[in-house]
Amino acid sequence: MQVLGIAGSMRQDGNTAMLVRAVLDEVAKAGVETEYVSLAGRAIGPCIGCERCRKEDYCTVHDDWDAIADRMLEAEVVVLGSPTYYYDVNGQTKNFIDRTYSFYHRRQLAGRGGVAVAVQANAGGTRTVETIEGFLSAHEFVSLGSVVGKGYEAGAVRSDETASTAVRAAAGRITNYLGRR
Ligand SMILES: Cc1cc2nc3c(=O)[nH]c(=O)nc-3n(C[C@H](O)[C@H](O)[C@H](O)COP(=O)(O)O)c2cc1C
Repeated sequence: MQVLGIAGSMRQDGNTAMLVRAVLDEVAKAGVETEYVSLAGRAIGPCIGCERCRKEDYCTVHDDWDAIADRMLEAEVVVLGSPTYYYDVNGQTKNFIDRTYSFYHRRQLAGRGGVAVAVQANAGGTRTVETIEGFLSAHEFVSLGSVVGKGYEAGAVRSDETASTAVRAAAGRITNYLGRR
């Protein structure tokens, strides 16, 4: 699949879900194949720091992370979104990120395109994006930019015009990137 969107909020149809889906909908208009995954309700335990993945090339903890990680390995572009919790990504998103350590050792994700998406009620979204961009950069993704949306109640981000503009810009960079490959 070409573009995989992952929404890290535990709110199935919250603001992060909406923004990630908005990016996917926009690229789909250009005929790009997309897939959406929500981390809501998924059992994604933390990295246990065992370092066994250095030898085994895959995380030794097995839960709902595995199937999503496998889809990520098949994607050309990953759009990863998180709500802002205490000026950073939420725990579920961080668990998801930390567990990708097994792909880091041999840079199995390198060269894919990556977009960071964050939602904040009023502050901290910049750091949320920085954390996601840190993940993308460590894995040597090609950065295709970021989107920060504003909203507190689920659905509120729909009225954030600045975010809608950023969604269209990110979608444009994704389609350009796919066109260059
Ligand atoms: C535990 C918790 C911590 C939060 N911390 C922040 C914060 O630091 N800054 C902020 O602007 N909003 C904060 N929020 C609000 C959420 O970022 C906001 O409601 C966002 O839209 C949630 O996205 P979602 O609908 O995808 O879950 C927090 C919400 C929760 C539940």
